[in-house]
Amino acid sequence: MLSERMQSVLNNQIRIEAESSQIYLAMASWAELKGLEGVSQFMYGQSDEERQHMLKFFKYINERGGHAKVSELSGPALEFGSIKEMFETLFKHEIFVSQSINELVHISLEEKDYATHNFLQWYVAEQIEEEAQARTILDKINLIGDDKGGLYLFDNDIKQLTVVSSVAPTAP
Ligand code: FEO
Repeated sequence: MLSERMQSVLNNQIRIEAESSQIYLAMASWAELKGLEGVSQFMYGQSDEERQHMLKFFKYINERGGHAKVSELSGPALEFGSIKEMFETLFKHEIFVSQSINELVHISLEEKDYATHNFLQWYVAEQIEEEAQARTILDKINLIGDDKGGLYLFDNDIKQLTVVSSVAPTAP
């Protein structure tokens, strides 16, 4: 059985994962309208992944006798100054998510909830992967600079881009 405090912070994480899904969906749309097919595909995929992250918390809370809640979400940014700015936003957001997961791990120990502590390890590993991927993409964008041909190749490359992590599983 989850403590009230554990349940409340896990439900808060459901909101964060749902908002992440919306943030990346808005990025997918922006990239699609800019004609960046690869980047757009990547962002649609990220958005789906975040929904899976959310559902995994959802199922867990209900399985442990809690009540998984759907909450109101804040609206994401719809416009970006550049592709670089968009991926910087993504990177900063993933760092924020990692911090939030770390805080959950901390609370699970305070609550002596070892089942939740164990459950959260999947997210700890997943965040390593997400941050590494965002960093790799930003490095590539910085290499391209203002080169239009480079951007065209990058858009093609990103269709295949996945950073293989030794610790994180690829599916929830
Ligand atoms: Fe669910 Fe990208 O963190």
